[in-house]
Amino acid sequence: MFEHEQFQKKLYGRRKGPKLSAYKEDLRRTLLPKVALNIVNGAAPHSYFSPPVDDVWLEIGFGAGEHMLALARANPVVGLIGAEPYESGVAKLLSHMADDPPPNIRIHEGDARDILASLPDGTLGKIFVLFPDPWPKTRHHKRRFIQTAMLTEFARVLKPDGEFRFASDDAGYAAWTLERLLAHPAFIWTAASPADFTTRPAHWPPTRYEAKALHGPPVYYSFARA
Ligand SMILES: C[S@@+](CC[C@H](N)C(=O)[O-])C[C@H]1O[C@@H](n2cnc3c(N)ncnc32)[C@H](O)[C@@H]1O
Repeated sequence: MFEHEQFQKKLYGRRKGPKLSAYKEDLRRTLLPKVALNIVNGAAPHSYFSPPVDDVWLEIGFGAGEHMLALARANPVVGLIGAEPYESGVAKLLSHMADDPPPNIRIHEGDARDILASLPDGTLGKIFVLFPDPWPKTRHHKRRFIQTAMLTEFARVLKPDGEFRFASDDAGYAAWTLERLLAHPAFIWTAASPADFTTRPAHWPPTRYEAKALHGPPVYYSFARA
């Protein structure tokens, strides 16, 4: 199905971090099973949520999850699915939501490609890839999450009026992504002026990584499903 080696199941990046506190270990045992996404091949993403939701959005590599949690709280009738293989990131999100877990969050502690491959066509309202690992060395570019074949996969799972949001503080990865999105027939850039991609839109909650913006000024791309 997928021709690019990106789609082989090797995951680049960490799963394990420093030893978790007893509190976070406990949340992994008690809260994670209640909010975990139990992937069912071919299942409509709406079926993962109760009470029912009007739309489902997917965040790929949510880090510590503050963007996803803010969106879930601000949009109670939207289901938020998040994928993050880094155990410490997932534990941090659990600790942020432990007091009042929103019913509209499902977490996959693993590779986002597991979710994408399971989804039927045209079922997601939005996909977010925010500050993905930039893999700056040329020989590592094939490890970047954004590849043309991945954009085609996003187009498959997005609804006709769906949206893809991308942010990066790495100029090389930003240019790489923009080039592929502009060349892709399934996406239309919604920016009307430079301010639309150099300033974070007010309705995009900030992420933890963005606060560091280590590499340079971030860009924020919003592309509509054509
Ligand atoms: C630089 S961090 C940014 C985290 C967060 N989006 C933020 O802005 O704070 C990139 C994240 O992508 C995650 N990641 C890498 N490959 C992934 C994959 N195949 N599926 C899901 N997440 C992935 C990493 O574990 C890491 O936490």
